[in-house]
Amino acid sequence: MNSTDFTTTSTTKPNKGQQMWGGRFSEATDGFVAQFTASVDFDQRFAKQDIMGSIAHATMLGRCGILTDEEVATIIGGLQQVQAEINENKFNWSVALEDVHMNVESRLTEIVGDVGKKLHTGRSRNDQVATDIRLWLREETNNIINLLVKLQKGLLKLASEHTETIMPGFTHLQTAQPVSFAHHVMAWFEMLNRDRERLIDTRKRINQMPLGSAALAGTTFPIDRTITAELLGFEGICENSLDAVSDRDFAIEFLSACSILMMHLSRMSEEIILWMSAQFHFVQIPDRFCTGSSIMPQKKNPDVPELVRGKSARVFGQLTTLLTLMKNQPLAYNKDNQEDKEPLFDCVDTVSGSLLAFADMLPNITPNKQAMREATMKGYATATDLADYLVRRGVAFRDAHEVVGNTVALAISEGVDISELSLEQLQQFNDKIEADVFDYLTLEGSLNARNHLGGTAPNQVKMAIERGYQRLEKF
Ligand code: ARG
Repeated sequence: MNSTDFTTTSTTKPNKGQQMWGGRFSEATDGFVAQFTASVDFDQRFAKQDIMGSIAHATMLGRCGILTDEEVATIIGGLQQVQAEINENKFNWSVALEDVHMNVESRLTEIVGDVGKKLHTGRSRNDQVATDIRLWLREETNNIINLLVKLQKGLLKLASEHTETIMPGFTHLQTAQPVSFAHHVMAWFEMLNRDRERLIDTRKRINQMPLGSAALAGTTFPIDRTITAELLGFEGICENSLDAVSDRDFAIEFLSACSILMMHLSRMSEEIILWMSAQFHFVQIPDRFCTGSSIMPQKKNPDVPELVRGKSARVFGQLTTLLTLMKNQPLAYNKDNQEDKEPLFDCVDTVSGSLLAFADMLPNITPNKQAMREATMKGYATATDLADYLVRRGVAFRDAHEVVGNTVALAISEGVDISELSLEQLQQFNDKIEADVFDYLTLEGSLNARNHLGGTAPNQVKMAIERGYQRLEKF
Protein backbone atom coordinates (compact mmCIF):
# COMPACT_ATOMS: atom_id res chain seq x y z
CA MET A 1 0.00 0.00 0.00
CA ASN A 2 1.09 3.49 -0.71
CA SER A 3 0.67 5.23 2.62
CA THR A 4 0.89 8.73 1.15
CA ASP A 5 -2.54 8.18 -0.43
CA PHE A 6 -4.00 7.79 3.04
CA THR A 7 -2.87 11.17 4.19
CA THR A 8 -3.42 13.32 1.09
CA THR A 9 -6.97 14.26 1.89
CA SER A 10 -6.69 14.33 5.65
CA THR A 11 -3.98 16.96 5.59
CA THR A 12 -5.94 19.22 3.20
CA LYS A 13 -7.40 22.33 4.85
CA PRO A 14 -11.27 22.35 4.86
CA ASN A 15 -12.92 24.60 2.31
CA LYS A 16 -14.62 27.69 3.66
CA GLY A 17 -18.20 26.99 4.75
CA GLN A 18 -17.67 23.21 4.96
CA GLN A 19 -18.11 21.15 8.11
CA MET A 20 -14.79 20.23 9.61
CA TRP A 21 -15.59 16.59 8.86
CA GLY A 22 -18.34 16.90 6.20
CA GLY A 23 -17.52 16.65 2.51
CA ARG A 24 -13.87 16.54 3.27
CA PHE A 25 -14.29 13.59 5.59
CA SER A 26 -16.41 11.60 3.20
CA GLU A 27 -13.88 12.38 0.49
CA ALA A 28 -11.05 11.23 2.73
CA THR A 29 -12.93 8.13 3.72
CA ASP A 30 -13.57 7.19 0.12
CA GLY A 31 -9.92 7.52 -0.69
CA PHE A 32 -8.98 5.53 2.32
CA VAL A 33 -11.55 2.83 1.70
CA ALA A 34 -10.41 2.47 -1.90
CA GLN A 35 -6.90 1.85 -0.64
CA PHE A 36 -8.04 -0.29 2.23
CA THR A 37 -10.18 -2.61 0.15
CA ALA A 38 -7.83 -2.86 -2.81
CA SER A 39 -5.73 -5.97 -3.33
CA VAL A 40 -3.82 -4.98 -6.46
CA ASP A 41 -0.62 -4.27 -4.57
CA PHE A 42 -0.29 -7.96 -3.83
CA ASP A 43 -2.61 -9.88 -6.16
CA GLN A 44 -0.79 -8.57 -9.25
CA ARG A 45 1.48 -11.47 -8.38
CA PHE A 46 -0.86 -13.75 -10.27
CA ALA A 47 -1.40 -11.59 -13.32
CA LYS A 48 -0.06 -14.40 -15.52
CA GLN A 49 -2.64 -16.85 -14.19
CA ASP A 50 -5.40 -14.25 -14.49
CA ILE A 51 -4.57 -13.74 -18.16
CA MET A 52 -4.26 -17.49 -18.80
CA GLY A 53 -7.69 -17.97 -17.23
CA SER A 54 -9.18 -15.16 -19.31
CA ILE A 55 -7.79 -16.55 -22.55
CA ALA A 56 -9.27 -19.96 -21.75
CA HIS A 57 -12.59 -18.39 -20.74
CA ALA A 58 -12.79 -16.35 -23.96
CA THR A 59 -11.90 -19.41 -26.04
CA MET A 60 -14.66 -21.39 -24.35
CA LEU A 61 -17.19 -18.56 -24.90
CA GLY A 62 -16.26 -18.66 -28.58
CA ARG A 63 -16.59 -22.43 -28.88
CA CYS A 64 -19.99 -22.28 -27.23
CA GLY A 65 -21.20 -19.60 -29.63
CA ILE A 66 -21.50 -16.96 -26.91
CA LEU A 67 -18.84 -14.75 -28.57
CA THR A 68 -17.95 -14.66 -32.26
CA ASP A 69 -14.60 -16.03 -33.40
CA GLU A 70 -13.54 -12.53 -34.32
CA GLU A 71 -14.38 -11.19 -30.88
CA VAL A 72 -12.45 -14.01 -29.26
CA ALA A 73 -9.41 -13.40 -31.46
CA THR A 74 -9.46 -9.68 -30.65
CA ILE A 75 -9.78 -10.33 -26.92
CA ILE A 76 -6.96 -12.88 -26.92
CA GLY A 77 -4.70 -10.55 -28.91
CA GLY A 78 -5.42 -7.78 -26.41
CA LEU A 79 -4.75 -10.04 -23.43
CA GLN A 80 -1.43 -11.06 -24.94
CA GLN A 81 -0.51 -7.41 -25.27
CA VAL A 82 -1.44 -6.81 -21.62
CA GLN A 83 0.81 -9.73 -20.67
CA ALA A 84 3.65 -8.27 -22.73
CA GLU A 85 3.25 -4.89 -21.02
CA ILE A 86 3.38 -6.56 -17.61
CA ASN A 87 6.45 -8.58 -18.59
CA GLU A 88 8.20 -5.44 -19.77
CA ASN A 89 7.25 -3.59 -16.60
CA LYS A 90 5.26 -1.06 -18.61
CA PHE A 91 1.92 -1.80 -17.05
CA ASN A 92 0.34 0.92 -14.94
CA TRP A 93 -1.23 -0.74 -11.94
CA SER A 94 -4.06 1.34 -10.51
CA VAL A 95 -5.36 1.09 -6.96
CA ALA A 96 -8.58 2.71 -8.13
CA LEU A 97 -9.19 -0.44 -10.19
CA GLU A 98 -8.97 -2.46 -6.98
CA ASP A 99 -7.46 -5.75 -8.04
CA VAL A 100 -5.52 -7.62 -10.69
CA HIS A 101 -8.70 -8.75 -12.42
CA MET A 102 -10.11 -5.28 -13.04
CA ASN A 103 -6.71 -3.84 -13.89
CA VAL A 104 -6.20 -6.41 -16.61
CA GLU A 105 -9.76 -6.12 -17.95
CA SER A 106 -9.69 -2.34 -18.01
CA ARG A 107 -6.40 -2.24 -19.88
CA LEU A 108 -7.75 -4.85 -22.30
CA THR A 109 -10.70 -2.59 -23.08
CA GLU A 110 -8.38 0.37 -23.57
CA ILE A 111 -6.43 -1.67 -26.10
CA VAL A 112 -9.20 -3.46 -28.03
CA GLY A 113 -12.17 -1.17 -27.40
CA ASP A 114 -15.67 -2.15 -26.31
CA VAL A 115 -15.31 -5.81 -27.26
CA GLY A 116 -13.03 -6.10 -24.21
CA LYS A 117 -16.10 -5.55 -22.05
CA LYS A 118 -17.52 -8.85 -23.32
CA LEU A 119 -14.78 -10.93 -21.68
CA HIS A 120 -16.57 -10.99 -18.34
CA THR A 121 -19.69 -12.64 -19.83
CA GLY A 122 -20.71 -15.63 -17.73
CA ARG A 123 -17.99 -15.00 -15.18
CA SER A 124 -17.53 -13.22 -11.87
CA ARG A 125 -14.45 -12.13 -10.01
CA ASN A 126 -15.47 -14.70 -7.43
CA ASP A 127 -14.84 -17.71 -9.65
CA GLN A 128 -12.04 -15.84 -11.40
CA VAL A 129 -10.01 -15.23 -8.25
CA ALA A 130 -10.52 -18.78 -6.99
CA THR A 131 -9.26 -20.04 -10.36
CA ASP A 132 -6.25 -17.72 -10.34
CA ILE A 133 -5.15 -18.82 -6.87
CA ARG A 134 -5.40 -22.47 -7.81
CA LEU A 135 -3.45 -22.01 -11.05
CA TRP A 136 -0.77 -20.07 -9.21
CA LEU A 137 -0.59 -22.47 -6.27
CA ARG A 138 -0.43 -25.48 -8.59
CA GLU A 139 2.71 -24.05 -10.16
CA GLU A 140 4.26 -23.10 -6.82
CA THR A 141 3.47 -26.56 -5.42
CA ASN A 142 5.33 -28.07 -8.37
CA ASN A 143 8.30 -25.80 -7.68
CA ILE A 144 8.35 -26.76 -4.01
CA ILE A 145 8.11 -30.46 -4.86
CA ASN A 146 11.06 -30.05 -7.24
CA LEU A 147 13.11 -28.30 -4.56
CA LEU A 148 12.26 -31.07 -2.11
CA VAL A 149 13.43 -33.67 -4.61
CA LYS A 150 16.67 -31.77 -5.10
CA LEU A 151 17.22 -31.69 -1.34
CA GLN A 152 16.34 -35.37 -1.00
CA LYS A 153 18.81 -36.33 -3.72
CA GLY A 154 21.47 -34.31 -1.93
CA LEU A 155 20.73 -36.22 1.26
CA LEU A 156 21.03 -39.56 -0.54
CA LYS A 157 24.44 -38.53 -1.81
CA LEU A 158 25.56 -37.37 1.64
CA ALA A 159 24.28 -40.60 3.20
CA SER A 160 26.03 -42.78 0.63
CA GLU A 161 29.37 -41.27 1.73
CA HIS A 162 28.81 -42.02 5.41
CA THR A 163 27.33 -45.46 5.94
CA GLU A 164 30.41 -46.31 8.06
CA THR A 165 30.68 -42.96 9.84
CA ILE A 166 29.68 -43.68 13.41
CA MET A 167 27.97 -41.20 15.71
CA PRO A 168 25.96 -41.48 18.89
CA GLY A 169 22.25 -41.93 18.40
CA PHE A 170 20.33 -40.06 21.07
CA THR A 171 17.19 -40.44 23.08
CA HIS A 172 16.43 -37.64 25.57
CA LEU A 173 19.52 -36.06 24.00
CA GLN A 174 21.56 -38.60 25.98
CA THR A 175 23.83 -41.03 24.13
CA ALA A 176 21.73 -44.12 23.47
CA GLN A 177 23.22 -46.43 20.82
CA PRO A 178 25.69 -46.05 17.98
CA VAL A 179 24.20 -45.23 14.59
CA SER A 180 25.80 -44.23 11.35
CA PHE A 181 25.68 -40.64 10.18
CA ALA A 182 24.09 -42.02 7.01
CA HIS A 183 21.30 -43.58 9.05
CA HIS A 184 20.61 -40.23 10.68
CA VAL A 185 20.62 -38.47 7.31
CA MET A 186 18.24 -41.10 5.95
CA ALA A 187 15.85 -40.32 8.81
CA TRP A 188 15.75 -36.76 7.45
CA PHE A 189 15.15 -38.20 3.99
CA GLU A 190 12.08 -40.06 5.26
CA MET A 191 10.66 -36.95 6.93
CA LEU A 192 10.99 -35.02 3.69
CA ASN A 193 9.60 -37.88 1.66
CA ARG A 194 6.36 -37.72 3.61
CA ASP A 195 6.29 -33.98 2.98
CA ARG A 196 6.70 -34.59 -0.72
CA GLU A 197 3.88 -37.15 -0.71
CA ARG A 198 1.61 -34.79 1.19
CA LEU A 199 2.22 -32.02 -1.34
CA ILE A 200 1.62 -34.36 -4.27
CA ASP A 201 -1.66 -35.38 -2.68
CA THR A 202 -2.64 -31.78 -1.92
CA ARG A 203 -1.93 -30.84 -5.52
CA LYS A 204 -4.84 -33.04 -6.67
CA ARG A 205 -7.28 -30.93 -4.69
CA ILE A 206 -5.61 -27.68 -5.70
CA ASN A 207 -5.99 -28.67 -9.34
CA GLN A 208 -9.80 -28.52 -9.52
CA MET A 209 -11.50 -25.76 -11.50
CA PRO A 210 -13.96 -23.28 -9.95
CA LEU A 211 -14.36 -21.24 -13.19
CA GLY A 212 -17.91 -21.30 -14.52
CA SER A 213 -19.47 -20.97 -11.09
CA ALA A 214 -19.73 -17.23 -11.73
CA ALA A 215 -20.72 -15.21 -8.64
CA LEU A 216 -22.18 -18.14 -6.71
CA ALA A 217 -25.02 -19.86 -8.55
CA GLY A 218 -23.66 -20.50 -12.03
CA THR A 219 -24.49 -18.53 -15.15
CA THR A 220 -27.43 -18.25 -17.53
CA PHE A 221 -25.13 -18.61 -20.56
CA PRO A 222 -24.69 -22.04 -22.20
CA ILE A 223 -21.06 -22.47 -21.11
CA ASP A 224 -19.07 -25.69 -21.26
CA ARG A 225 -16.78 -25.96 -18.26
CA THR A 226 -15.02 -29.04 -19.58
CA ILE A 227 -13.49 -26.90 -22.34
CA THR A 228 -11.96 -24.38 -19.93
CA ALA A 229 -10.81 -27.14 -17.56
CA GLU A 230 -9.01 -28.89 -20.37
CA LEU A 231 -7.45 -25.71 -21.70
CA LEU A 232 -6.13 -24.85 -18.26
CA GLY A 233 -4.94 -28.35 -17.41
CA PHE A 234 -7.25 -28.87 -14.45
CA GLU A 235 -7.75 -32.47 -13.31
CA GLY A 236 -11.37 -31.88 -12.45
CA ILE A 237 -14.14 -29.34 -12.08
CA CYS A 238 -15.53 -28.10 -8.76
CA GLU A 239 -18.97 -29.72 -8.62
CA ASN A 240 -20.95 -27.13 -6.72
CA SER A 241 -20.90 -23.46 -7.62
CA LEU A 242 -21.47 -22.23 -4.06
CA ASP A 243 -18.62 -24.38 -2.76
CA ALA A 244 -16.39 -23.55 -5.73
CA VAL A 245 -16.27 -19.80 -5.09
CA SER A 246 -15.94 -20.09 -1.32
CA ASP A 247 -13.70 -23.12 -0.82
CA ARG A 248 -10.18 -22.44 0.39
CA ASP A 249 -9.53 -25.93 1.81
CA PHE A 250 -6.86 -26.51 -0.80
CA ALA A 251 -4.94 -23.49 0.49
CA ILE A 252 -5.31 -24.65 4.08
CA GLU A 253 -4.12 -28.13 3.11
CA PHE A 254 -1.16 -26.59 1.36
CA LEU A 255 -0.31 -24.51 4.44
CA SER A 256 -0.67 -27.62 6.63
CA ALA A 257 1.68 -29.60 4.44
CA CYS A 258 4.10 -26.65 4.45
CA SER A 259 3.82 -26.30 8.23
CA ILE A 260 4.80 -29.92 8.72
CA LEU A 261 7.61 -29.49 6.22
CA MET A 262 8.90 -26.39 8.03
CA MET A 263 8.61 -28.22 11.36
CA HIS A 264 10.92 -30.85 9.85
CA LEU A 265 13.37 -28.27 8.51
CA SER A 266 13.33 -26.64 11.93
CA ARG A 267 14.16 -29.92 13.70
CA MET A 268 16.98 -30.55 11.25
CA SER A 269 18.21 -26.99 11.84
CA GLU A 270 18.20 -27.52 15.58
CA GLU A 271 20.39 -30.61 15.20
CA ILE A 272 22.83 -28.84 12.93
CA ILE A 273 23.04 -25.89 15.32
CA LEU A 274 23.75 -28.20 18.25
CA TRP A 275 26.27 -30.24 16.28
CA MET A 276 28.13 -27.12 15.19
CA SER A 277 28.71 -26.00 18.78
CA ALA A 278 32.17 -26.45 20.30
CA GLN A 279 30.60 -28.82 22.83
CA PHE A 280 29.46 -31.28 20.15
CA HIS A 281 31.86 -30.36 17.37
CA PHE A 282 30.19 -32.99 15.14
CA VAL A 283 29.81 -31.12 11.85
CA GLN A 284 30.87 -28.13 9.84
CA ILE A 285 28.78 -26.38 7.24
CA PRO A 286 30.38 -24.25 4.52
CA ASP A 287 31.22 -20.68 5.51
CA ARG A 288 28.78 -19.29 2.97
CA PHE A 289 25.89 -20.36 5.21
CA CYS A 290 27.34 -18.70 8.30
CA THR A 291 28.17 -15.24 9.56
CA GLY A 292 30.65 -13.94 12.07
CA SER A 293 30.17 -11.75 15.09
CA SER A 294 31.00 -8.06 15.06
CA ILE A 295 32.54 -8.31 18.52
CA MET A 296 33.71 -11.92 18.99
CA PRO A 297 36.29 -12.76 16.32
CA GLN A 298 36.18 -16.51 16.95
CA LYS A 299 32.48 -16.87 16.10
CA LYS A 300 31.06 -18.75 13.12
CA ASN A 301 27.32 -18.58 13.58
CA PRO A 302 24.97 -21.07 11.89
CA ASP A 303 22.72 -18.30 10.57
CA VAL A 304 20.94 -20.22 7.85
CA PRO A 305 19.71 -23.08 10.05
CA GLU A 306 18.82 -20.62 12.80
CA LEU A 307 16.81 -18.51 10.38
CA VAL A 308 15.01 -21.52 8.94
CA ARG A 309 14.14 -22.62 12.49
CA GLY A 310 12.79 -19.11 13.08
CA LYS A 311 10.93 -18.93 9.78
CA SER A 312 8.94 -22.07 10.59
CA ALA A 313 7.00 -19.83 12.99
CA ARG A 314 5.71 -17.68 10.14
CA VAL A 315 4.29 -20.65 8.27
CA PHE A 316 2.55 -22.07 11.36
CA GLY A 317 1.08 -18.57 11.81
CA GLN A 318 -0.14 -18.51 8.21
CA LEU A 319 -1.93 -21.83 8.68
CA THR A 320 -3.65 -20.42 11.75
CA THR A 321 -4.50 -17.25 9.80
CA LEU A 322 -6.31 -19.17 7.06
CA LEU A 323 -8.15 -21.47 9.44
CA THR A 324 -9.31 -18.46 11.42
CA LEU A 325 -10.16 -16.57 8.23
CA MET A 326 -12.49 -19.33 7.07
CA LYS A 327 -14.02 -20.56 10.28
CA ASN A 328 -17.19 -18.50 10.36
CA GLN A 329 -17.74 -17.43 6.81
CA PRO A 330 -21.23 -18.22 5.58
CA LEU A 331 -21.54 -19.44 2.00
CA ALA A 332 -20.62 -18.26 -0.53
CA TYR A 333 -17.92 -15.68 -1.38
CA ASN A 334 -17.11 -13.00 1.20
CA LYS A 335 -14.59 -10.20 0.94
CA ASP A 336 -12.77 -11.82 3.87
CA ASN A 337 -11.32 -14.19 1.27
CA GLN A 338 -9.12 -11.44 -0.08
CA GLU A 339 -7.04 -12.00 3.06
CA ASP A 340 -6.07 -15.48 1.87
CA LYS A 341 -3.39 -14.23 -0.50
CA GLU A 342 -0.65 -12.60 1.53
CA PRO A 343 -0.26 -15.56 3.92
CA LEU A 344 -0.05 -17.90 0.92
CA PHE A 345 2.50 -15.70 -0.84
CA ASP A 346 4.63 -15.44 2.25
CA CYS A 347 4.39 -19.17 2.89
CA VAL A 348 5.53 -19.97 -0.65
CA ASP A 349 8.44 -17.52 -0.40
CA THR A 350 9.48 -18.81 3.02
CA VAL A 351 9.29 -22.48 2.12
CA SER A 352 10.97 -22.05 -1.28
CA GLY A 353 13.76 -19.96 0.21
CA SER A 354 14.34 -22.40 3.06
CA LEU A 355 14.45 -25.36 0.69
CA LEU A 356 16.75 -23.57 -1.70
CA ALA A 357 19.22 -22.89 1.12
CA PHE A 358 18.92 -26.42 2.52
CA ALA A 359 19.33 -28.08 -0.87
CA ASP A 360 22.72 -26.42 -1.15
CA MET A 361 23.75 -26.57 2.51
CA LEU A 362 22.88 -30.10 3.64
CA PRO A 363 24.75 -32.10 0.99
CA ASN A 364 27.80 -30.02 1.91
CA ILE A 365 27.84 -30.85 5.60
CA THR A 366 31.20 -32.26 6.69
CA PRO A 367 30.99 -34.59 9.65
CA ASN A 368 33.90 -34.61 12.07
CA LYS A 369 34.32 -38.37 12.24
CA GLN A 370 36.83 -38.32 15.07
CA ALA A 371 34.67 -36.20 17.36
CA MET A 372 31.59 -38.28 16.59
CA ARG A 373 33.45 -41.47 17.36
CA GLU A 374 34.86 -40.14 20.61
CA ALA A 375 31.43 -38.96 21.71
CA THR A 376 30.01 -42.40 20.96
CA MET A 377 32.77 -44.06 22.99
CA LYS A 378 32.09 -41.77 25.93
CA GLY A 379 28.43 -42.54 26.21
CA TYR A 380 28.35 -46.33 26.92
CA ALA A 381 26.51 -46.63 23.64
CA THR A 382 27.05 -50.40 23.38
CA ALA A 383 25.46 -51.23 26.74
CA THR A 384 22.34 -52.62 25.01
CA ASP A 385 24.61 -54.82 22.88
CA LEU A 386 26.03 -56.40 26.03
CA ALA A 387 22.52 -57.03 27.31
CA ASP A 388 21.48 -58.59 23.98
CA TYR A 389 24.65 -60.75 24.11
CA LEU A 390 23.60 -62.12 27.50
CA VAL A 391 20.04 -62.73 26.30
CA ARG A 392 21.43 -64.82 23.43
CA ARG A 393 23.20 -66.87 26.11
CA GLY A 394 19.95 -67.57 27.95
CA VAL A 395 19.80 -64.70 30.44
CA ALA A 396 16.36 -63.05 30.70
CA PHE A 397 16.41 -59.52 29.32
CA ARG A 398 15.46 -57.86 32.63
CA ASP A 399 18.30 -59.72 34.41
CA ALA A 400 20.70 -58.84 31.63
CA HIS A 401 19.65 -55.20 31.97
CA GLU A 402 20.64 -55.33 35.66
CA VAL A 403 24.01 -56.99 34.92
CA VAL A 404 24.83 -54.34 32.34
CA GLY A 405 23.76 -51.58 34.72
CA ASN A 406 26.33 -52.82 37.21
CA THR A 407 28.93 -53.12 34.47
CA VAL A 408 28.36 -49.53 33.36
CA ALA A 409 28.65 -48.37 36.97
CA LEU A 410 32.06 -50.05 37.20
CA ALA A 411 33.17 -48.55 33.87
CA ILE A 412 32.11 -45.08 35.06
CA SER A 413 34.10 -45.49 38.27
CA GLU A 414 37.14 -46.64 36.28
CA GLY A 415 36.67 -43.85 33.74
CA VAL A 416 36.61 -46.25 30.76
CA ASP A 417 34.15 -47.60 28.20
CA ILE A 418 32.69 -51.08 28.84
CA SER A 419 34.66 -52.38 25.88
CA GLU A 420 37.81 -51.34 27.76
CA LEU A 421 37.05 -53.45 30.86
CA SER A 422 38.94 -56.75 31.07
CA LEU A 423 37.22 -60.09 30.48
CA GLU A 424 37.66 -60.90 34.21
CA GLN A 425 36.02 -57.64 35.20
CA LEU A 426 33.07 -58.40 32.94
CA GLN A 427 32.77 -62.00 34.07
CA GLN A 428 32.38 -61.03 37.72
CA PHE A 429 28.86 -59.80 36.83
CA ASN A 430 27.88 -62.87 34.83
CA ASP A 431 29.85 -66.01 34.04
CA LYS A 432 28.13 -66.46 30.66
CA ILE A 433 30.34 -63.70 29.30
CA GLU A 434 33.18 -65.03 27.14
CA ALA A 435 36.02 -63.56 25.11
CA ASP A 436 33.86 -63.14 21.99
CA VAL A 437 31.92 -60.44 23.87
CA PHE A 438 34.38 -57.85 22.60
CA ASP A 439 33.19 -58.41 19.02
CA TYR A 440 29.83 -57.08 20.11
CA LEU A 441 31.06 -54.21 22.24
CA THR A 442 32.89 -52.43 19.45
CA LEU A 443 31.02 -49.66 17.68
CA GLU A 444 31.29 -51.46 14.34
CA GLY A 445 30.01 -54.69 15.89
CA SER A 446 27.08 -52.82 17.40
CA LEU A 447 26.18 -51.23 14.05
CA ASN A 448 26.54 -54.43 12.05
CA ALA A 449 24.33 -56.32 14.47
CA ARG A 450 21.29 -54.17 13.62
CA ASN A 451 20.96 -55.94 10.36
CA HIS A 452 17.33 -55.81 9.29
CA LEU A 453 15.13 -53.50 7.22
CA GLY A 454 15.20 -50.10 8.91
CA GLY A 455 18.28 -50.90 11.04
CA THR A 456 21.55 -48.98 11.12
CA ALA A 457 23.85 -51.78 9.80
CA PRO A 458 25.85 -50.31 6.91
CA ASN A 459 24.60 -52.86 4.37
CA GLN A 460 20.99 -52.12 5.38
CA VAL A 461 21.51 -48.37 5.08
CA LYS A 462 23.10 -48.89 1.67
CA MET A 463 19.98 -50.75 0.56
CA ALA A 464 17.78 -48.00 2.04
CA ILE A 465 19.73 -45.43 0.02
CA GLU A 466 19.25 -47.54 -3.11
CA ARG A 467 15.51 -47.69 -2.47
CA GLY A 468 15.56 -43.95 -1.83
CA TYR A 469 16.94 -43.32 -5.32
CA GLN A 470 14.26 -45.61 -6.77
CA ARG A 471 11.51 -43.73 -4.94
CA LEU A 472 12.71 -40.49 -6.56
CA GLU A 473 13.21 -42.04 -9.99
CA LYS A 474 10.20 -40.44 -11.63
CA PHE A 475 11.31 -36.97 -10.49
N1 ARG B 1 -9.83 -9.08 -4.84
C1 ARG B 1 -10.86 -10.01 -4.57
C2 ARG B 1 -10.30 -11.18 -3.75
O1 ARG B 1 -9.14 -11.24 -3.62
C3 ARG B 1 -11.42 -10.53 -5.85
C4 ARG B 1 -12.84 -10.99 -5.77
C5 ARG B 1 -13.72 -9.84 -5.47
N2 ARG B 1 -15.07 -10.18 -5.61
C6 ARG B 1 -16.02 -9.35 -5.16
N3 ARG B 1 -17.22 -9.70 -5.35
N4 ARG B 1 -15.71 -8.26 -4.53
O2 ARG B 1 -10.99 -12.01 -3.25
